[in-house]
Amino acid sequence: MRTYGCQMNEHDSERIAGLLEADGMEAASSMDEADVIVLNTCCIRENADNKLYAHLGDLKARKADNPDLQIAVAGCLAQKDRDLIREKARHVDVVFGTHNVHRAADLLAEARARGPIVEILEETVREDMESFPTSLQARRESDYAAWMTIQVGCDNNCAFCIVPAVRGPEISRNFDTLVAEAEDLARQGVTEITLLGQNVNSYGRDLQLARRQAGEDVRVRPMFADLLRSVGAVDGIRRVWYTSPHPKDLREDVLAAMVETNAVCEQLHFPLQSGSDRVLALMHRGYTAERFLEKVHMARATIPDLAVSTDIIVGFPGETEDDFAATLEVAAAAEFDNAFTFVYSPRPGTEAAQMVDQFVDPELVKDRFARLRVVIERSIRQKHAARVGRTEEIVVFGPSKRDPEVMSGRTRQHKLVHFASDQPLKPGTLATAVITGSGMQYLKGDLVEVLARPTHKKRIPVVSV
Ligand code: 5AD
Ligand code: SF4
Repeated sequence: MRTYGCQMNEHDSERIAGLLEADGMEAASSMDEADVIVLNTCCIRENADNKLYAHLGDLKARKADNPDLQIAVAGCLAQKDRDLIREKARHVDVVFGTHNVHRAADLLAEARARGPIVEILEETVREDMESFPTSLQARRESDYAAWMTIQVGCDNNCAFCIVPAVRGPEISRNFDTLVAEAEDLARQGVTEITLLGQNVNSYGRDLQLARRQAGEDVRVRPMFADLLRSVGAVDGIRRVWYTSPHPKDLREDVLAAMVETNAVCEQLHFPLQSGSDRVLALMHRGYTAERFLEKVHMARATIPDLAVSTDIIVGFPGETEDDFAATLEVAAAAEFDNAFTFVYSPRPGTEAAQMVDQFVDPELVKDRFARLRVVIERSIRQKHAARVGRTEEIVVFGPSKRDPEVMSGRTRQHKLVHFASDQPLKPGTLATAVITGSGMQYLKGDLVEVLARPTHKKRIPVVSV
């Protein structure tokens, strides 16, 4: 499995891997050993397509050497490019989209019997969502941490974004099913859960609407706050994260649920995209810079010690120097703990991609991008430095890559810590460390004490015969 793109995609890859294992396959330790290669693609930004086609080019020789090798392309780019993938790369056996991940094993078998298949469904069928969890048991990359998809699709129409076109309208997964899934994960020893959705704040609105339409007397409202409370209350779940909320939809009830539910970590990913009201309106984001900052302040006032991260796009069509200056100002005022910064890339079919006559000169964009990084990196460094001297709760994910004597882990604010420990600590260990130093990418510290050892069982892959 090779994954491009976001956490949603990584989790889809886990589900595909889980399905293939359940169908009798085993994970290969290298590309050379693999009989089946699945590339799970992303189309949110340009680089991902270029990377995929380059990678497919490399696989051509491999397929020529081993005609039994099966190559499948899944994910958003497959959803968008469809037949184009096989036109560009005849050696691809299976192309499937984001709405038929559950067909992965069947499609590979069908292609083996009858030749190449492109199967792209137009939309997720609600009934398929119901069978999403149990029948699609994921093969998780980590034993103590798990992702849970709470909704698929997006009902917004941000002018730059391809997601609504490839992932379809928003569909929430059943509330009780999600809580049961969290309980099941906790029984397996999972202690950390990340809830995934394109617009998590509106989770459940569609479920309530359906009940209302069926004649029940319910108020149509999002249920994300309730979900945070319920997942956070599951015995054994120590940390709950989520991504991504939409600033226009973040409400006080979610902040209250965060602060009142111990397991929910003090971390908020809050995508700004631009600090210019003019650009925000063109993007159809539904908030102004002032409103965004008000919400950041409200969140920080409600949740002590909250870390706030963001996404920002530089060079949206028509972005002027003044617009960009506003982005710098808002970025500085928001004092972000972390930021993912992107150069705008036109996604065919989106509204912004048609504003061709307003595309910003790439040299100018490059320069703005560098200036934005200066502002962002300054606030990251400041936020990191402010942690020095504090004792932080850390979940360990293993020895540091640079120095196996040093352990690495994350704080509740999702900050990476490398810390000295007099004993090796297994992934999933809960410990405290005192922070002694800081840089751009990480904090440094010393182990104080081990609070809890991991309890997860090593999972044996389920193989059907
Ligand atoms: N160009 C650049 N960045 C984009 N993103 C989404 N679409 C585009 C695009 N066309 C960024 C947004 C979003 C993140 C996941 O990717 O900032 O929040
Ligand atoms: Fe894309 Fe906007 Fe939906 Fe996020 S909220 S997935 S940026 S359309």
